[in-house]
Amino acid sequence: MKVRKAVIPAAGLGTRMLPATKTVPKEMLPLVDKPALQYIIEEAAAAGIEDILVVTNRAKSAMDDYFDYYPELETRLNQAGKDRELAEVRRAADLANIFYVRQKETRGLGHAIWRAKRFVGDEPFAVLLGDDIMRAEKPVTAQLIEAAERYNASAVGVQQVATAAISKYCSVKVEPLEERVFRVSDVVEKPRLEQIFSNYAILGRYVLTSGIFDILENLKPGYGGEIQLTDGLGLLCKQEEMVAVDFEGKRYDTGNLKGFLEATIDFSLEHPETGEWLKRFIQEKAQEL
Ligand code: G1P
Repeated sequence: MKVRKAVIPAAGLGTRMLPATKTVPKEMLPLVDKPALQYIIEEAAAAGIEDILVVTNRAKSAMDDYFDYYPELETRLNQAGKDRELAEVRRAADLANIFYVRQKETRGLGHAIWRAKRFVGDEPFAVLLGDDIMRAEKPVTAQLIEAAERYNASAVGVQQVATAAISKYCSVKVEPLEERVFRVSDVVEKPRLEQIFSNYAILGRYVLTSGIFDILENLKPGYGGEIQLTDGLGLLCKQEEMVAVDFEGKRYDTGNLKGFLEATIDFSLEHPETGEWLKRFIQEKAQEL
């Protein structure tokens, strides 16, 4: 099993980040000096993914412009001797082969993934959700690919979440296989208390076999009246082997304001241009509060 392709669903309406996302796709909001989507594409590229499909909608053309060359700007930066900026602008366009397809109708995550059927063909593929930005020594997608290859199975990235919060995610039925790896036998989207299988929830990273497409094609709407990827996974894990990897790394939910600010502060503290300055600024601020 070799995973070379990834799918990034980015066709949501961004309703948790309004009014900013009324005209700017939420995937293009900057986390320090790069759009959120770039972190996701960098993670996929670092995990050895060569071809990426972004599932978009009609309001998101800023995304494909960003990952393209921009000759006028590049010439100007070159003439001005702004070598670092020039290199950064070029690098974003050279991270991977990026393809786009429109979802056309907002019918849920499962439907967005189903739009990747032609692009994926018969290969296993990774899915990276744009709201979930990871900080990890080894890219979380690479951790999943390793497990998927070892077990010749689909693999989902999980971490434990508090019982009070799990209804925002999904809950996975797990049996231990080895340290940090479990066999998955069921999964439920946005569970009510009495439906919880475990505190392990899938957090935005998946490696799936192409078997998911036939399932998604025939899936009835689930939670919220949408075609849910999780419902598809619940069926896939009964047909084929699926493992869950309790991945190493910190996850930021940048689809809501608090998670977005957390990521902004942490990434700014690590950034060579802003780190030292922000540390002093926070210390001064803390004394005032
Ligand atoms: C989606 C998935 C859910 C997952 C969550 C976090 O939910 O449907 O299973 O746990 O992402 O990655 P959403 O955040 O779109 O409500």
